[in-house]
Amino acid sequence: MNKETAKEKVVLAYSGGLDTSVCVKWLQEELGYGVICVLGNVGQEHDGLEKIEAKAKALGVVACEVVDMREEFADEYLTCAIAANAMYENKYPLLSALSRPLISKHLVDAAHKYGATAVAHGCTGKGNDQVRFETSIMALDPALKVIAPVREWDLGMRPDEIAYAKAHGVPVPVSLDKPYSIDDNLWGRAIEAGVLEDPWNEPPADIWTMTVDPTEAPDEPTYVEIGFEAGVPVSLNGEQMGLVELVEQLNGMAGAAGYGRIDMIENRYVGIKSRECYEVPAGLAIIQAHKALEDLCLERDVLHMKLGLEQTWADQVYNGRWFSPLKQALDAFMGATQAQLTGEVKLKLYKGSCVVVGRRSAAALYDQALATYDNDDAFDQKAAKGFIDIQALSIKTWAMKQAQLAQAKEAASGSAQALFGVVEGGATEPAVAQAAAL
Ligand code: ARG
Repeated sequence: MNKETAKEKVVLAYSGGLDTSVCVKWLQEELGYGVICVLGNVGQEHDGLEKIEAKAKALGVVACEVVDMREEFADEYLTCAIAANAMYENKYPLLSALSRPLISKHLVDAAHKYGATAVAHGCTGKGNDQVRFETSIMALDPALKVIAPVREWDLGMRPDEIAYAKAHGVPVPVSLDKPYSIDDNLWGRAIEAGVLEDPWNEPPADIWTMTVDPTEAPDEPTYVEIGFEAGVPVSLNGEQMGLVELVEQLNGMAGAAGYGRIDMIENRYVGIKSRECYEVPAGLAIIQAHKALEDLCLERDVLHMKLGLEQTWADQVYNGRWFSPLKQALDAFMGATQAQLTGEVKLKLYKGSCVVVGRRSAAALYDQALATYDNDDAFDQKAAKGFIDIQALSIKTWAMKQAQLAQAKEAASGSAQALFGVVEGGATEPAVAQAAAL
């Protein structure tokens, strides 16, 4: 066996940026690994995946796998996120958190294909993404070693990293001073760092690329009709299409109307509060429409239970636990609620807003004959009295007992006062008032 083939192999999540390019060299030079790069296409912006592949190959990697993950991302990840109306802290539609387990799955697949013993990623030690990659990898193959070069190397500062890159033949881009840290995919864009680190600073106009400034959006509203089948968006304005295309088209429409921006303070899993800006035009519109259809079709108790479980689902996924048994069980619940969720929702997009203006479904539980305030309604109003009396019985019983106890207490304190010759009975009054107010 020659020296090259005898080397242990590591699979690296490669983006083509400076960090992961330096990771390649560091893994080769410092740890002596043969490196296999996996470059995932999850719908991010790029100026040519072939260029990135060529860059990896020029670094002397064993192999570079370019994997188009878009369809899998849409059909197996976004569909689950939509079913769960996924929104961490009620605001963040989890875009980065959704792509990490998918990329991890492909890293593990590549490790098996090439007989690698380790997997590596280019995340820092301060974010959520390291947790997501590593937890996913451990869930998929607990025997694999995980390496996080950026967390381990002593190249903490940019100049050290650039010096290392230059010394090891890693091309250093000219426009290096990226003012922001950006992660994007089909579902949207995450923008952080730079001037955004001061939560008082309004996001500069140049951070937004998927959405127009709402003040510059068209003066006419845009109407969009989303068709759902078993909870999955399948058509846009009556035209059937796959989810990848649907999300792409809707990103364009909603973004053009200035809809989809988020500016928030978020609690990272590692205990840090961070200021995050996001653009998720289609994602936010789809979740809003999906919720509207659920309002129409889901039985009350199912809907209420689901609202609570959605938070748990989002926490699990945010915290990197995509492949956890709890998340799998929650998916089963979500899935069961979606079976009959077929129908259409009409949205009105206008200068940064998105409003549901219509919804219909053959499975709707909304019954106009019951809901109407017209005379010929089907609801038996007289029956409401018995319903209220019985459902209130335990409260009424309790209230009567409180009044009795208060009276007894008052009588007792009256006789005590008589006993000790206390004439002012004012002290007992607040206690009675308090009991009556309960
Ligand atoms: N805060 C978000 C999350 O944890 C986005 C992270 C995106 N990463 C980045 N490099 N901007 O999911």
